[in-house]
Amino acid sequence: MKKFAFALFAVALAAVACSPAPDQSGNAALETIFNRKSVRSYTEQALSSQQIETLLRAAMCAPSGMNMQPWRFVVVTDPQVRNALGGLSAKASAVFVVCGETMMKGRPAEEGAEAPMVPNGNWNADCAAATENLLLAAEAIGLGAVWTACYPYEERMNQVRTVLGLPEGVTPYCVVPVGYPAGDDQPKDKWKPENIHYDRW
Ligand SMILES: Cc1cc2nc3c(=O)[nH]c(=O)nc-3n(C[C@H](O)[C@H](O)[C@H](O)COP(=O)(O)O)c2cc1C
Repeated sequence: MKKFAFALFAVALAAVACSPAPDQSGNAALETIFNRKSVRSYTEQALSSQQIETLLRAAMCAPSGMNMQPWRFVVVTDPQVRNALGGLSAKASAVFVVCGETMMKGRPAEEGAEAPMVPNGNWNADCAAATENLLLAAEAIGLGAVWTACYPYEERMNQVRTVLGLPEGVTPYCVVPVGYPAGDDQPKDKWKPENIHYDRW
């Protein structure tokens, strides 16, 4: 009996430890974070312009190094352009291409001189933060989305540049197809205590 009780306790403990969403305490933001997953199949239902704006507003709430906000977005709903982007973009009702301005105004050499353009070393971190916000917002309003790679893969970047006609200085960072989920994708459990160190490694 004692053995059985112990086994039951161990199973219960394991279930709690493995849960991707432990105690959410009814917190909507945490619930969204714990439930986000990559969604790669979509119905044909279009997104409303309000939904599109919500996702863009969420993306632009991201933190940004020196608050430069180097992100730029191209929202693609035209099926021809989506097809040209290829892969999952052809199947989703809307595609958000997150791009970045890689240069920013630096400090002028002397007062009154023109500010030189210098690389913004944070541009891709800022774009990543904006992308995650977009993915979370999609989850929060019942949509499915997936981050698909672009930067730093030259071939894909050139394809996206050409299809969208991106200007010089604007680099495509990633491509995010979004739509109403067609399947029943579930969040993955990524909780790994062995990846955590406290105070020192
Ligand atoms: C930098 C980055 C690049 C990714 N590229 C792709 C991609 O090209 N195609 C794709 O289907 N998923 C891509 N993903 C999604 C990952 O495969 C996915 O996040 C991972 O498998 C974990 O699954 P989850 O998002 O459901 O938690 C990418 C994710 C990141 C962060």
